[in-house]
Amino acid sequence: MYTQSFDTQTNAKVERANSDSREDAFLARIRRDEKIEPQDWMPDAYKKTLVRQISQHAHSEVVGMLPEGGWITRAPSLKRKEILLAKVQDEGGHGLYLYSAAETLGVTRDELVDALHSGKAKYSSIFNYETKTWADIGIIGWLVDGAAIMNQVPLCRCSYGPYARAMIRICKEESFHQRQGFDIVHALCKGAAAQKAMAQESLNRWWWPTLMMFGPHDSDSTHSGQAAEYGIKRLSNDELRQKFVDVTVAQAEFLGLTIPDPALVWNAERGHYDFGSIDWDEFWKVVNGEGPCNESRMQDRVSAFENGRWVREAASAHATKRAERALAAVAAKAPVTTHDPVAA
Ligand SMILES: [Fe+2]
Ligand SMILES: [Fe+2]
Repeated sequence: MYTQSFDTQTNAKVERANSDSREDAFLARIRRDEKIEPQDWMPDAYKKTLVRQISQHAHSEVVGMLPEGGWITRAPSLKRKEILLAKVQDEGGHGLYLYSAAETLGVTRDELVDALHSGKAKYSSIFNYETKTWADIGIIGWLVDGAAIMNQVPLCRCSYGPYARAMIRICKEESFHQRQGFDIVHALCKGAAAQKAMAQESLNRWWWPTLMMFGPHDSDSTHSGQAAEYGIKRLSNDELRQKFVDVTVAQAEFLGLTIPDPALVWNAERGHYDFGSIDWDEFWKVVNGEGPCNESRMQDRVSAFENGRWVREAASAHATKRAERALAAVAAKAPVTTHDPVAA
């Protein structure tokens, strides 16, 4: 009895020591900037942080197709329609790469999609705002995709291999999205006074929600510390937001648009722009489901998923049939054995 309990305690101690040394070795790999791959040992907290972040990112890509998708038929020319169609399609592709990256951590696509549809998982709050005018499509590309690039470029160097590799391709496509948005706004700003006014009105509505995309201040961000220690997040929310403001001001000046922030001013001492305070009450309201479009976005997502069920079933039945045919063809080509053990 005594021996058994002694053995159990010793085993527990050995296990703890092993786990501590594995964790130390893991953190040392992160500090050496080595990539962690799906087959490698990783702490549960690392896996959990990654599943939360990658799936939230994947959901944002897919829900992000909705505000712009409604403008494909209303784009002002065939060229603009083609470009917007390609852009929205890219966002679906980004969702696909990211769901696949999350699946390497042992979660299934169904679990991830369920979490989104049941409201358990979050997505970027920006997609809960309405796209009221054509200028919104330009402003989204310029600012929202611009903010996404700012967030995502450092993720190309994140410690988890499948996420980092997915981000490299995504960032290349996001640059195209940002340019197409800037090009729309540029065309409006060079156009009639009413077109320029439309661009300005859109900028007024989207500026602050875009700054909210970087998340709460570093001092109020619950997950940031851990994500930084694990080499997932390379720059903090406030650092990224500041970088975004610094590059965007010059672009707005070039377009002849006014950023709707009277407190925006160059601070020579800091070498950065100072800017006004964000309405965090609005941010939390939208995050917690009370934004202008939270409900309709989820309804649209769930009904698209249900309406597409027959397509997924048909595609998978077709794939099974093709695989069976391929197997049968291989079997038919296999050399027929002439050796008959019974006859021999
Ligand atoms: Fe995207
Ligand atoms: Fe994009």
